[in-house]
Amino acid sequence: MSRLVIKGGKHLEGEVYIHGAKNSSLPVLAATILCGDICEIHNCPYLTDVDASLKILNYLGCTALRENDKIHVDSKILIHSDIPDKLMHEMRSSIIFLGAVLARTGRARLSFPGGCDLGSRPIDIHLKALRQMGASIEVEKGIIDCRTEGRLKGAHLQLTFPSVGATENIMIAAATARGETIISNAAREPEICDLAAFLNACGAKISGHGGGVITIEGVETLHGCSHTIIPDRIIAATYLAAAAVTGGKIKLNGIVTDHLTPILAAFEESGCLIEEEAEGSITITAPKVLKPMKDIRTMPYPGFPTDAQAILMSVAAVAEGTSVFVENIFDNRYKHVGELRRLGANINLEGKVAVVEGIKRFSGADVQSTDLRGAAALVIAGLNASGETRITRLRHLDRGYDGLVESLNLLGADITRM
Ligand code: EPZ
Repeated sequence: MSRLVIKGGKHLEGEVYIHGAKNSSLPVLAATILCGDICEIHNCPYLTDVDASLKILNYLGCTALRENDKIHVDSKILIHSDIPDKLMHEMRSSIIFLGAVLARTGRARLSFPGGCDLGSRPIDIHLKALRQMGASIEVEKGIIDCRTEGRLKGAHLQLTFPSVGATENIMIAAATARGETIISNAAREPEICDLAAFLNACGAKISGHGGGVITIEGVETLHGCSHTIIPDRIIAATYLAAAAVTGGKIKLNGIVTDHLTPILAAFEESGCLIEEEAEGSITITAPKVLKPMKDIRTMPYPGFPTDAQAILMSVAAVAEGTSVFVENIFDNRYKHVGELRRLGANINLEGKVAVVEGIKRFSGADVQSTDLRGAAALVIAGLNASGETRITRLRHLDRGYDGLVESLNLLGADITRM
C-alpha cells in the first residue's frame, strides 16, 4: 500500500495553477449521454473518479477517451441502460448518471450508491423528483430500476434540501423532458452553473441557475459542444491552507475568485493576507501566528462549503486560541478528527460541533486517510508538523487531487510517495 512521507516545517513559496473541478467534471461527463453527439470537455483533472466516469460511459456504449486535459465523448450509440455494481461502487457519486441514462434510453438500472465515508448518502430527493416527472421507479434488493414511457414530463419540484446531486440529476433529466420544469430550493453551487452552461451550449433552455429557482424548458434533442470545466474551489482552499500552516506565501492562478468568498473570509479571519492579483489570481501571505476562526458553519452555497471543513480545521488546529466548527451538511464528517488528534491536535466533538483548541505545532506521526477531504487535512497538518508524518490509504486522495504532491514539492515541501 503506497503512503506519503512528509518532512514538515518547510515554508511554501511560489505559484500554483488550480486544475478543473472534480464536482463539475463528473455531472458534465454524465450529461454528455443526452447529446447523442460528440462533446469535448476541457480542463478535466486526472482523478480516479473521472477515470471511473469514463469506464461507465464506455460501458454504456459511448466512446470516451482522454487526450491530455481534454476528454472526447461520442455518445451517438448506447448499448446499455444499466450500470454494473462494480462500477457503481467505484465512485460514490455515480448516481449522477441516473437522470442522463433514463432521459436518453427510457430506462435506468443501477445499484443503490454505497454509503460512504461521510455517513448515509440518501437519494430520496432524487427519486421523488424523477417520479414527479413521470418515471416509475422500483427499489428492491439494493437495485434501483427506473422506467419512463416516452419522454419525461416537466414538473414543478420543491426540494426539501438544496441537494447538489439531486439538482444536477433533475436538470439533466428535464433538459429533454416534455414541457417546463421548475426546481424550487435548488442548489446554487458554481458546479450547478457550470453544468447549466454545458447543457445550454448543447441546446438546452435553462435559466435561473445560481439562484434558488431554476427553470428548464424541455427541448426535443440536444447536440454536442465544447466546454471548459471551471477551476476547483476546494483544491484552491487546500493550497491556501498549505500556505497558512507553513508561514508561506503562495500565488494561485486559474481560479474564479467569486467562488471562494466564504473560504477567503475564513483565511482572512485567521490573519492571512489575501491579495487579488490579475484576473483569476490571488496571493495568500500567512501571518507569523494564526488567529482562531470563531464560527465556521458549513452551509449550502454561498455559505461555507462542507468540503473545506476538514482542510480549515487543520489550519485552526495550529492557531492561537479556540475555533468552533459546525458541520450542518453531512451527519458524519468528522472522521479526520481522530487522525488529527494523533498528530497532536486538541479537538473536542459534541454532535455537529467541533471545538478546536489551537496548539503550537503538529507533531509528526503515522496516520490513515479516512475520506477525500480528510486526507487533504492530514497532508496540510503534515506540512506543519515537526518530524515526519506518514499517511496511508492514499486512494482517498487520488479521487480528488491531481498532482498535489508534485505541486507542493515545487512550492518547497518535502513529500515522498513511497
Ligand atoms: C456533492 O455531493 C459533492 N459531490 C460533495 O463533495 C459535496 O460535499 C456535497 O455536494 C455538498 O456540497 C459531488 O458533487 C460529486 P448533496 P452530493 O446531495 O450531491 C442529503 C467531495 O468531497 N441528501 O448536496 O451527494 C445528504 O445526505 C464530495 O468532493 C438527502 O437527504 O451532496 C447530505 O446530508 C463529498 N437526500 C446533504 O443532503 C438526497 O436525496 C447534502 O447532500 C440527497 C442528499
